[in-house]
Amino acid sequence: MVANDCLVDSVLFCGGLLCGTACAVAGYVYVAVINPAYNVHGSYTTPIVIMAFVMGVFISGMATTVISAGTKAMLVCITRDPYHSYCADPQLAKDLAQTRPEVFSIMSAASAEYTLIKTRIEGNVGVVELHRPKALNALCTDLFRELNDALARFDQDKNIGAVVLTGSGTRAFAAGADIKEMKDKDFVTNYTKGFLNLWTEQIDRMRKPIIAAVNGYALGGGCELAMMCDIIYAGEKAVFGQPEINLGIIPGAGGTQRLVHAIGKAKAMEMVLTGNAKLTAKEAEAAGLVARIFPIESLVEEAIKIAQEIASKSQPSVQMAKEAVNAAFEMPLSSGLRFERRLFQALFATKDQKEGMAAFAEKRKPNFTHE
Ligand code: CAA
Repeated sequence: MVANDCLVDSVLFCGGLLCGTACAVAGYVYVAVINPAYNVHGSYTTPIVIMAFVMGVFISGMATTVISAGTKAMLVCITRDPYHSYCADPQLAKDLAQTRPEVFSIMSAASAEYTLIKTRIEGNVGVVELHRPKALNALCTDLFRELNDALARFDQDKNIGAVVLTGSGTRAFAAGADIKEMKDKDFVTNYTKGFLNLWTEQIDRMRKPIIAAVNGYALGGGCELAMMCDIIYAGEKAVFGQPEINLGIIPGAGGTQRLVHAIGKAKAMEMVLTGNAKLTAKEAEAAGLVARIFPIESLVEEAIKIAQEIASKSQPSVQMAKEAVNAAFEMPLSSGLRFERRLFQALFATKDQKEGMAAFAEKRKPNFTHE
């Protein structure tokens, strides 16, 4: 799709050059043939031809910019795909998602083309499946680019109320960061290019809840990715671990922090320092990392059911509830309580609060409009 972008620009660039050349030829013909009076000393020809060429390129350059923007806008409308077709620059895509969400979300994540993830929509739930089965869904950079793109689209899609993130197959949610991709990295590049920043930049800003449905291995970055989600459900054979120490590194995407909050210092320290102490699904549930365990085959279906239930609530209240719970990780109790109180008070400005309470009083189901 980026090729479309290049094609449009290349055609227009060639058009610009052709136009400049045509102006130069016209200048030459004018001076040399039509009005030789301008060429009395014979020396005017070259400057006038050069001027005509430069003016031609300049004018056609301006026209190119206008036509290029117009053509791309037209193609966006036709293909309904602003991100893939015309935002090869991820920063541009990010800006577009923030400043023009209505344009960005025209194309839903379910119909976007991905190779390392699969996406679909079930009711009001967006489902993302990490899809590198041969590498146990190891998390490489391109996979995160696709994941971030899909999550951004689901977050902008007003018909989606929650997202379920899972791994393809039942062997692994994700066996960690892609070791083969990162084995030759060096400190300076990691630091200057912000290695792993990509992992959190979209998930951190998700307003809608994400549920991780973990079957099989959730190791290293896989465990960290699950912990970035808002709820974790596990299949009966799920295994959680932080084996980075065995590779001569430490967890780098939240393992030393979120795990401590989830299961306490002693267990987290043992997992991080030995790399080999892992939690089974039952242990993870007992420790508080996992909300519930389901049979392997029905895990994703059950996670979607719960996501559907969350999606049926008022979106402003779901999003504020998520914000308030997450604030507990960042704020001292008094500030957290104040923050919660403000959000609670603010929700009385929504139509959904009026509808929710009226429905209760009238003994009927609420019909939330997310306003
Ligand atoms: N990166 C790249 N490839 C991986 C991978 C990873 N993290 N984990 C598994 N794979 C690949 C294997 O190389 C193998 O590929 P090939 O068939 O091409 O050789 C394929 O997946 C299947 O793996 P195994 O043959 O090893 O499968 P297994 O059932 O014998 O073992 C396993 C499964 C215990 C998960 C083992 O693969 C393993 O230990 N993986 C590495 C786990 C790990 O160390 N994760 C932490 C990564 S570092 C990190 O995540 C940093 C961070 O904090 C962000």
